[in-house]
Amino acid sequence: MLILTLSILFAALFASLPLWLPSAVLGLRMRIFTWINGAEGVAIPGKLVDSAQFRRLYSHPAANGRSRGAALSDLFWYWLSPGAELHQEHLEPGENYDEVARTTRRILGSISKKSTDELVATCVARAIEWKERSPRLVRLRDLMMPIWAEFYYTLVFGMRCPAVARDLIVGNADDVVTALKCCSLRHMGRRYRLTRYLIEQVELGAVSQPLPAHLSTRQQALYLQGTFFNTAVVQMSEAMVHLLLALAQHPQAQDRVATEGEDGEYLDQVIDESLRLYPLFGIAHRITTAEIDLDERTRLPPGSVLCFNYPTYHRLGFDDPEIFDPDRWRNCSRRDANYIPFGVTANRPCPAQGLAPITMKIATRAILRQYSLHSSASHTRSIPNRGPCLMVPRSRPLGRRARQALLLGIRARDRWEDVWRSIVQLILGTYMVWDARRLRLCQRYFEAADPSPQGAEESLRPLGGQRLERSAEGCPRAQ
Ligand code: HEM
Repeated sequence: MLILTLSILFAALFASLPLWLPSAVLGLRMRIFTWINGAEGVAIPGKLVDSAQFRRLYSHPAANGRSRGAALSDLFWYWLSPGAELHQEHLEPGENYDEVARTTRRILGSISKKSTDELVATCVARAIEWKERSPRLVRLRDLMMPIWAEFYYTLVFGMRCPAVARDLIVGNADDVVTALKCCSLRHMGRRYRLTRYLIEQVELGAVSQPLPAHLSTRQQALYLQGTFFNTAVVQMSEAMVHLLLALAQHPQAQDRVATEGEDGEYLDQVIDESLRLYPLFGIAHRITTAEIDLDERTRLPPGSVLCFNYPTYHRLGFDDPEIFDPDRWRNCSRRDANYIPFGVTANRPCPAQGLAPITMKIATRAILRQYSLHSSASHTRSIPNRGPCLMVPRSRPLGRRARQALLLGIRARDRWEDVWRSIVQLILGTYMVWDARRLRLCQRYFEAADPSPQGAEESLRPLGGQRLERSAEGCPRAQ
């Protein structure tokens, strides 16, 4: 009798794992991260700064330090390596940053509206042509990455992306984002292979626009790798996963998008709602370089690490903020709402905020023209499941029963995957946070650049070309 009772209890405990284990492990992971990493930073919105001051503080001229002086930066540099010290997002303000930012804007602006339409359509067609005949279960992120790898390759090099380059770019971007989500360790070999390829291309003069002159060939390659073949590919893929998964789980919204004309505005609202509910940045941080007065009694000292929390901000001031409701944008001013999917204009906003939504619209319409999307997988901001989704050709629709059975299968698999994935994330995440603290890539970079106490002051000023020559992590040069 006792054995039977124990067996039943054990079976019940085992069956309930998907319901409680992933969230329990997530909580434990966050506590371990804070313990290893230190509870650094001012949470915004938070006790000290409320949502009304969010934009004002984000836009403050002294909230302009990017990497130096924050333990958090060691972690970001670890995940973005090689070349995090050359990544536009992590450069300190100054002339070198300005030149890099100008180059990015020039490359992003080098394509006309008509060519953008054609290029996105071609890249999407290449990615989905083999799936046309029968329903397929896909991971949306895996489907998206080659599309954006090809698109950004063509933008940078002005020519069609060869398969070998596409595979290198996808290998690099996928490795970065998978490590960032703690689903796997870093594989530096994959990333260095892309670096070597890019060095060769830069040496051949294959880039369509002039690159920052203060950078060496290797640095130019690392800049391209960080901004276009990591950030652009990862961000576009993730934004599209959220958008398509939201449509897959809201059939009415999907039907409206699929049936409205090319110039319809509903898709804009769907994109806004998807970016509101699932902003790509969890936290963006800044390090203050001078005192900031919050009010008569509160002053933030220089060196404060400000952690701007996007998901929290995007939920304040909206009715039913957890509900996916694109219609809320019909009469809502984006400018006045607590909504900054591409950052704030006054403080280094995303340079792709014009191009990204346009390309997302073209890709979405191209996919929905051929397929209907369905999914019962969990949809969270970090989306470690890569967006499981059933794509059904519109020319060969599935019966209701068959579709429901498949959706049941997706849900069961997804919940069980969550169990083992949460444990993997706990173990690998703890190791990577510890390893990043041990390697101190960002701290060591600035120490090497400014060994003297005065140097510490100096390094808040623009970095010189020579200093940028140092690499935070020994990336092998082209052989
Ligand atoms: C829908 C897609 C995208 C979203 C939602 C997005 C969002 C953002 C946000 C919120 C920031 C500001 C973070 C901060 O304040 O620290 C940012 C910065 C940045 N983004 Fe994007 N991004 C997207 C696509 C892209 C693409 C396609 C590129 C390609 C070049 C790109 C390149 C950058 C760069 C270089 C920065 C740093 C800007 C600077 O510090 O000067 N992003 N992005």
